[in-house]
Amino acid sequence: EKGGYEHFMLKEIFEQPRSILDSMRGRMITEGNHLMMSGFREFENKFINAERILIVACGTSWHAGLVAEYLIEDFARIPVEVEYASEFRYRNPIIRESDIVIAISQSGETADTLAAIELAKSKGATIFGICNVVGSSIARTTDAGAYTHAGPEIGVASTKAFTAQVTVLTLIAMIMGAKRGTLETTKLHELMAELDNIPAKVERALKLDAQIQEISEKFKDATNFIYLGRGYNYPVALEGALKLKEISYIHAEGYPAAEMKHGPIALIDEQMPVVVIATKDSSYEKIVSNVQEVRARKGQVIAIVTEGDTTIPTMADHVIEIPETSEHLAPLLSVIPLQLLSYHIAVMRGCNVDQPRNLAKSVTVE
Ligand code: M6R
Repeated sequence: EKGGYEHFMLKEIFEQPRSILDSMRGRMITEGNHLMMSGFREFENKFINAERILIVACGTSWHAGLVAEYLIEDFARIPVEVEYASEFRYRNPIIRESDIVIAISQSGETADTLAAIELAKSKGATIFGICNVVGSSIARTTDAGAYTHAGPEIGVASTKAFTAQVTVLTLIAMIMGAKRGTLETTKLHELMAELDNIPAKVERALKLDAQIQEISEKFKDATNFIYLGRGYNYPVALEGALKLKEISYIHAEGYPAAEMKHGPIALIDEQMPVVVIATKDSSYEKIVSNVQEVRARKGQVIAIVTEGDTTIPTMADHVIEIPETSEHLAPLLSVIPLQLLSYHIAVMRGCNVDQPRNLAKSVTVE
């Protein structure tokens, strides 16, 4: 059942080239540059004319929502708010009939996300669900939706569900941008071609497994970790930290890199591993300075960089090179080494990777 892998989590990490492909199958036809999403069509006009989009989710699904905020605002120029479902439901939020609420949930059973949906529904908003489990409660209560088609995810730590969510949300942002005329056609076609290349690039990123295992050996006894990223890689930093804490029980914090100097930098000393996601994108120069700031305080830098980078390797203690891609699609690749890092560290610490203590696969109580 684990397909020869030692744990479901590892199997699910390695399934990602396939699950990402499944999440876009039939939705993106690169020949003829065609994009379509059946669940989306019925509410297309509402989406396109929405004054605002609210995203509600928990945990890893909330991180996928953060990526979607950047994508939708960039491609479709519609304001997006990403909310923890648990906070949203109890804080008397402003919800209008013209709002579109996107609820993201792997299981489709998360109690807080369900309650947030019910609240938004009662105010007349249109609810769009992005779920992995077919026929789940959230899938049934939403007005429309799109399944992620990642296949069953057994490991408590979400991996392939995250990349499938990000893929579906990327397609939605692209469709919205195309229909609204806010995403240039040439840019759209470039993105489609690049999205088409992602499964093969994930496959290449998975080849880093042995190298990441070696790095994991060096850090398995650490008691703290910091993860930094900017722009599209900021949600990935949060996701990397969550993955590490939930399965290895090492305390980890994810931050947008520029926030470091507003507090967390005080934690950095020679004992502190800092994972920096520093791929070649529009904030590259800025993140180079952040790496220097960490080095100056003797933090140990594990950098995720774009293949061929010659600058960061001169400053980082460990360098993990991932294939180049558009910055908009970066999370789909940069999250892979972080999933593997947390997996190997957890295994080396003797943790129950698939069923970490205190956690359940779906959180059906608030
Ligand atoms: O099933 P959901 O996507 O609604 O679950 C939300 C969170 O409980 C979930 O992502 C959790 O954070 C994972 N264990 C993270 O790996």
